This record gives sequence, structure tokens and C-alpha cells, in this order.
Amino acid sequence: MYLQRRNRILRQSPAIRSLVAETILTPNDFIVPLFIVEGTNVKEEISSMPGYYRLSLDNTVKEVKELWKMGLKSVLLFIKCKDELKDNKGTEAVNPQGLMQRSIRAIKDACPDMLIMTDVALDPFSSFGHDGIVEGSEIVNDATVEVLANMSVSHAQAGADFVAPSDMMDGRIGAIRQALEENGFTKTGIMSYSAKYASCFYGPFRDALDSAPGFGDKKTYQMDYSNRTEAIKETLMDVQEGADIVMVKPALAYLDIIREVKNNVDIPVSAYNISGEYAMIKAAAKMGWLNEDKAILETLTAIKRAGADLIATYFAKDAVRLLT
Ligand code: PBG
Repeated sequence: MYLQRRNRILRQSPAIRSLVAETILTPNDFIVPLFIVEGTNVKEEISSMPGYYRLSLDNTVKEVKELWKMGLKSVLLFIKCKDELKDNKGTEAVNPQGLMQRSIRAIKDACPDMLIMTDVALDPFSSFGHDGIVEGSEIVNDATVEVLANMSVSHAQAGADFVAPSDMMDGRIGAIRQALEENGFTKTGIMSYSAKYASCFYGPFRDALDSAPGFGDKKTYQMDYSNRTEAIKETLMDVQEGADIVMVKPALAYLDIIREVKNNVDIPVSAYNISGEYAMIKAAAKMGWLNEDKAILETLTAIKRAGADLIATYFAKDAVRLLT
């Protein structure tokens, strides 16, 4: 048999495979989500996210220093708000002494070069567990956007480098950009969850923050997973309104969306390898059905190959350990 082209030539040894590899993960690719709770010396494992923890601020600061030493350069902060502080106005979300604002300051103090990104949405602060203000059975848009803009300014005041609106209200990126400008925060970035789908894979995250919606679902603001063109509309509008980075979320069941967005925008694209994606690998590994380390690297490489320039992932530390 004579063949003009033998594709296996480029696969025959680790050396040639590594020379021609198209996608290489590095610690620079990852954003580390952190869950912060009140208290001291708290480290609570999240039951649906084995190996991942809610940390009090003192432990969070220690963790951030360790992450920096490992070569991880960015954290994405989420806080678990006490029940008695939740309401339907996002009061605690804009409290200058709130847990989020205190956390930003403490992390900046302890590790000034670490990039701090903050979640901007009302669900952890909402007595209804929704990302916005509730009137009747509706999640109202414009009143919510106003709070989100104030919340973003409050995070910037505390020292956040990027705010990351994850709420999917209309017009929030423009409003946040304008509020940041008006308050002199010309260096604060916006990483917009632009194409965020209503997904069952957020389940474990809602356990982590006790933020599951009290009624209904999030389908009137998060996107319908049947849609792809709509993701382009959402991301292009966010770019126009002033987003610095756009995000697709979830990642694994949405690799086509990541690629589609990547092909349509001229700014970095991030993807969120979310809690349910983490839980699935952990569960299968625990059963002995998957090799966890290999599954982590294959998953993260696939997300990057799809077009993600940045990946928020609960596997960031594992990935760095496996890559270095
Ligand atoms: C809330 C928010 C969610 C996640 C990040 N921000 C959950 C939701 O929209 O219900 C999910 C992250 C994950 O599942 O890892 N605004």
C-alpha cells in the first residue's frame, strides 16, 4: 500500500505530538471561583462539590496567597449572605461593610497583584433567590439594573479589578460602565456573563450559596438552551455596551456557543466550567468510572480548544498541579 499522506506520522511519539499540539493549557488560563462565608477559621466542604469549600475570610486570604504562589492570577468572588440580611432590594449587596466588600479589601491588602473579579447579581442577597428585584411573580429589569450598577461601583470602591455581572438583565453592561465612569473608576473592567443559559448544571453552586430560586425558575432572564444565534446577539450587545471580556456559561454542553462567540467578537472570551460540570467528574471518579486527572485536563483543553481564552474553573489548582 502506497499512501501520499500518512496522518499517523504526527502522532507517533510524545515528542512529535507535543510539537504539533494546537491547544496548550497554562496556569494563565484560569480564574479561580471562591465561596466566602462569615466567621473565622471556617472551612466547610460543599456536599455536592466534594473537595471544594466555603471559606471564612481569614482562610480565604490564606488560600489566595497559596493560589498566587502556584501561579494562579485571578479569583472570582462569591459570598454566602446570612439569611437575616437577605431582602428584595439588594440592600446588603451595596453595603460598604458587607462581606463582599470586606473580602475585596482584605484580599487586595494581602495579595495586591491578584486580580479580583466579583460576582454581580442579586441572588445571594435575595429573599426570593432571584438575580433581580421581584414584583409579583416578575423579575423586574430596570430597577434591578440600577442596583447592579450601584453594586458594581461599591465593588470598585473596595478595590475590585473586574466586576462580573452574572444576572442577564437587559442593559446592565451599559449602565454599569456608565456608573463606573461617573464615579471615576476608569480602570475597572467588566467581565460580562453575556451568554448565560438557564441550566440545571448550576445546582451544586446554588447549594454552595444557598441561593436556589424560591419560586419559579430563571428562564425569563437566563437564555434558552435551544438557542445559538441569540448568544451572538447577547454578546455583541455587551461588547457594544462596554464589556471588556464576554463569557459563555455553562461551558461543557455549550462548546459550540463558545466557538460561535469566539468567531464573532474582538475581545477575550471566557467560559465558566461550572459547578455541575465539576460535580459530574468528581462523582464518576469517586465511583471509579473515570480517571479524574485525565478527565480534568481533557475537559479544560476542550473548552480552550472551543475558543475560550480564559476559563473559570473549580479545577484550577488541580490543573496547575497536573500541568507543572
Ligand atoms: C448567580 C450565579 C450562578 C452561577 C454563578 N453566578 C447560578 C445561577 O445563575 O443560578 C453558577 C456557577 C456554577 O454553577 O458554578 N448569578
